[in-house]
Amino acid sequence: MKIFSGTSNKFLAEKVAKKLNVELSALEVFVFPDGEKRVRILDKVLDKDTIVIQSTSTPVDENYMQLFFTIDALKRNGAKSVTAVVPYFGYQRQDHVFREGEDVSVKVVAEILDKIGLDRLIVVDLHSIKIKEAFNTPVSHLSALPIFAEIIKSKGWDRDRTTLVSPDAGGMRRIKILSEMLNNMSFAVIEKNRDLATGSVTAEKIKGKIGRKAIIVDDMISSGGTIAAAAELLKKQGAEEIYVFATHAVFSEKAPQILQKAAVNKVYVTDTVFVSGEKRFPKLEILSVSELVAKNIKST
Ligand code: R5P
Repeated sequence: MKIFSGTSNKFLAEKVAKKLNVELSALEVFVFPDGEKRVRILDKVLDKDTIVIQSTSTPVDENYMQLFFTIDALKRNGAKSVTAVVPYFGYQRQDHVFREGEDVSVKVVAEILDKIGLDRLIVVDLHSIKIKEAFNTPVSHLSALPIFAEIIKSKGWDRDRTTLVSPDAGGMRRIKILSEMLNNMSFAVIEKNRDLATGSVTAEKIKGKIGRKAIIVDDMISSGGTIAAAAELLKKQGAEEIYVFATHAVFSEKAPQILQKAAVNKVYVTDTVFVSGEKRFPKLEILSVSELVAKNIKST
């Protein structure tokens, strides 16, 4: 097996390779003066099973093009199979037409990956499980929820005074699964509204009873608006301590500052997206999905 890493999350790729006892194979990404890129495989892949690890986080389009070119280069060099590990799958939120006249971005990306001959895709915590249906390529959908469950269990929090909270109706499935993992811990859901034109978020009301501790669970944090609004509402409703567990640290714009200021005690994310030094803040803790990904690769 040969493992290659794109440039978006080499940190995670190295961890995965180490867990599989494999060195990362060499890959050259050359950027021309006009910004176009060329990918070159610097290892022999003929008749080999190959893996490329690349998160399609910001800059999303650049990271996708690099992924497409790497898959093409591996195919052209005779790889027996190409598996793409895309821990954070960009464009997944645009999975249907929200307003008349819009595109379905994730479908376009799925069609490109199918077309260039990808054999298998491994992703972590998709925004909706229906996204898998956009692909003809087999998709392994992994989840960080067991990692979150272990951390929550290890805290020994009084479960009668702790509530899992989904910051919007879309997270209901996620919260129910986590609740089962935590011996049916109680949960509540926030009614959230997002202005589709400006992106601004308001948390309207909470359905369910809130304990002293609230654990907000989400698939991703982008602007931080959803978490800040949810935390404010939870505080108003009597939560004294608020913890956040979100898989993908997309962290656009001022998210780190917003989260540090928000009424939350701690923000747990995973390393599906690389968080650079300047985006780290005191309340942040990063958990790793490397074991999860390595186990899945090993098992197939
Ligand atoms: C929305 O449905 C998602 O699950 C997240 O809640 C959302 O994408 C977070 O975005 P932001 O941090 O910009 O509010």
